Amino acid sequence: RDPTTVDLLPGAPNGMQITVGRSGTSNRTVKAPKNFTLKAPGPGYTCGAAQKVKPPTKFISPDGRRTTQAHVTWDVICTYSQFVAQRGPACCVALSSFYNETIVDCPKCSCGCQNNITNPGSCVEVNSPYLASVVNGPGKGSSTPLVRCSPHMCPIKVHWHVKANYRDYWRVKITISNWNYRTNYSQWNLVVQHPNFDNVTTIFSFNYKALNPYGVINDTAMLWGLKYYNDLLMVAGPNGNVQSELLFRKDPSTFTFEKGWGFPRRIYFNGESCVMPQPDLYPWLPSSSPRLTKTAFLALAIVACAMVAFLYNHLVLDKYCGKS
Ligand SMILES: *[C@@H]1O[C@H](CO)[C@@H](O)[C@H](O)[C@H]1NC(C)=O
Ligand SMILES: *[C@@H]1O[C@H](CO)[C@@H](O)[C@H](O)[C@H]1NC(C)=O
Ligand SMILES: *[C@@H]1O[C@H](CO)[C@@H](O)[C@H](O)[C@H]1NC(C)=O
Ligand SMILES: *[C@@H]1O[C@H](CO)[C@@H](O)[C@H](O)[C@H]1NC(C)=O
Ligand SMILES: *[C@@H]1O[C@H](CO)[C@@H](O)[C@H](O)[C@H]1NC(C)=O
Ligand SMILES: *[C@@H]1O[C@H](CO)[C@@H](O)[C@H](O)[C@H]1NC(C)=O
Repeated sequence: RDPTTVDLLPGAPNGMQITVGRSGTSNRTVKAPKNFTLKAPGPGYTCGAAQKVKPPTKFISPDGRRTTQAHVTWDVICTYSQFVAQRGPACCVALSSFYNETIVDCPKCSCGCQNNITNPGSCVEVNSPYLASVVNGPGKGSSTPLVRCSPHMCPIKVHWHVKANYRDYWRVKITISNWNYRTNYSQWNLVVQHPNFDNVTTIFSFNYKALNPYGVINDTAMLWGLKYYNDLLMVAGPNGNVQSELLFRKDPSTFTFEKGWGFPRRIYFNGESCVMPQPDLYPWLPSSSPRLTKTAFLALAIVACAMVAFLYNHLVLDKYCGKS
């Protein structure tokens, strides 16, 4: 009645088998299962109708001796939606680079706003003398995060740092930190989209698998911790983080960090989309600041207008530059 499901990577064989008793052995008596619902890990899943798979699956018998063919096999597709789950963001992204000293932190209020007046006790200060009593107080063991106070108020923060640039490679450091005092995230996973994942060379101290959802471009990867080493992301505090470095191969003749190219397009932690900073705030390459260009253009325009005003008369000024 309540089978356990496991989440496997795409392409895994025999994802799940359910044996249904008293269904007979003919196509007349065997009926497609209906109304699939995924109850765990929470709401937000919607499952479609079962579709017959032809030919039915072949599988190895439990004793490992025979190959049997199922009488009939169905596929049921369930999708997760953060919107349907009615869950707000639970994760945010901070960005930095070796070529610009600006560290772009998670956007303010990514997961909630810190407001001691309208929402007291919504977070705990890192050096609060009451930290232990709050953590062990009512709500202990609940799945509602108890976050460390911060402008972003997220339980999870992912920091993507563009660390180095070599002739044929470039390097990124990823740090996932836990700002939730209530939860150890065991068997966490991170999904990252970046166009250079088609040429990823080495990923240090995380497991990695390319996800190729549309079969065309390999720009998405799933990362997760090494067993017994960093697959447990500990509660907020000095041990509450895991780190890795990624090495990407590049084409030296065309490669550039311009326009924030070194930063990820999307990041998901445990399937939840993380809030990213606005692209116009990304740390820019010093030579290619678009705002500088814009400012320079504006200054030129003002000078041009002033010259026009100086050379011609009041009418021109009013017409082209306005009274101001
Ligand atoms: C039952 O249906 C499946 C799939 O449509 C088909 O492959 C199989 O031969 C049928 N079996 C019988 C006994 O009709
Ligand atoms: C499907 O299952 C849900 C939850 O058990 C139930 O509320 C709903 O009525 C079922 N729908 C059908 C069509 O059986
Ligand atoms: C987190 O994990 C550590 C180590 O396994 C354990 O000592 C601690 O009690 C856990 N804390 C929570 C809140 O589950
Ligand atoms: C990946 O490497 C190939 C071969 O060097 C190159 O053509 C391609 O542009 C690279 N991809 C990216 C996103 O740089
Ligand atoms: C994407 O990855 C798959 C499997 O790793 C590989 O077979 C395929 O050639 C890759 N495609 C591109 C465009 O890199
Ligand atoms: C670093 O990036 C910021 C944008 O986040 C930009 O305002 C600043 O000018 C850049 N610094 C340099 C030295 O270009």
